[in-house]
Amino acid sequence: MTVEELLVFGKSEIHSDHAKIILGEILNKNPLELLNYLDEKVEEDKVKKYKEAILAIKEGKPLQYVLGTVNFYGNIFQINQNVLIPRFETEELVEQTIEYIKKYFTEPVDIVDLGCGSGVIGLTLEKKISTKSVDLIDISKEALKVTNINCGNLKSKANIIENDFLNGIQKKYDVIISNPPYIKEDEEIEEIVKENEPHIALYAGKDGLDCYKKIINNLPNNMKERCLVAFEIGSSQGNEIKKIIEEQLPHTKVIIKKDLSERDRMLFIFNNLE
Ligand SMILES: C[S@@+](CC[C@H](N)C(=O)[O-])C[C@H]1O[C@@H](n2cnc3c(N)ncnc32)[C@H](O)[C@@H]1O
Repeated sequence: MTVEELLVFGKSEIHSDHAKIILGEILNKNPLELLNYLDEKVEEDKVKKYKEAILAIKEGKPLQYVLGTVNFYGNIFQINQNVLIPRFETEELVEQTIEYIKKYFTEPVDIVDLGCGSGVIGLTLEKKISTKSVDLIDISKEALKVTNINCGNLKSKANIIENDFLNGIQKKYDVIISNPPYIKEDEEIEEIVKENEPHIALYAGKDGLDCYKKIINNLPNNMKERCLVAFEIGSSQGNEIKKIIEEQLPHTKVIIKKDLSERDRMLFIFNNLE
């Protein structure tokens, strides 16, 4: 089949932009360039791969899992259904955290990314700031296989650790960052997310706060004297999490920040930083 025939087939099954993105990925071309190759014949194995991808999307699989890669903060990360699809809000969390690290730390920092999944947060920080060590922690063996691939692809020196957040870890960090699961057990979420993304990456008990509580409990053991803690949060959870922190760590300063859509999506703890 030709490029044109494949695009016509794709358009008849799914959104034409998605069909172009998939064909572009399979042919290793920018989707916008495909129009220059309409008459070109496509090899049989690539036609098969393309058709399978189109049908997977038609059946409700997210485009990112079909492609198997995402661009996060300028780097390409591999993903599969064992890890969360990285979100724009998480790029905002990383961006804001980089700003704070540059403001408050002059020496290379010890960082831990809790619930690292594909590794997007910790590995991006490793690329963008000066680090002494980067620890990537997740409880899911399958997720950590993906972390490991991304560490290799990005030539990272990060340590991959299978663990229940900070439980039993003695090391102290300058920066503790996490986008933990934070959806309430009975919360209605988009079908495409519920059906495809790992539930261990999404749900966190009745009030959605189980993971924050667990992490906050351990903070006194794992924060250095000067420490920044950065959390992605659900848009209605800021004040509840702030209250828990203020009860347990009364000497810290807590700030809730909005994302570009004006929703409370980030929470920062400053331990002796100002
Ligand atoms: C919302 S996902 C975030 C993934 C990635 N950091 C990102 O931002 O795209 C949460 C991650 O936490 C992990 N996780 C869940 N419970 C955990 C626990 N008790 N200890 C460590 N990791 C956990 C899940 O396996 C999942 O990879």
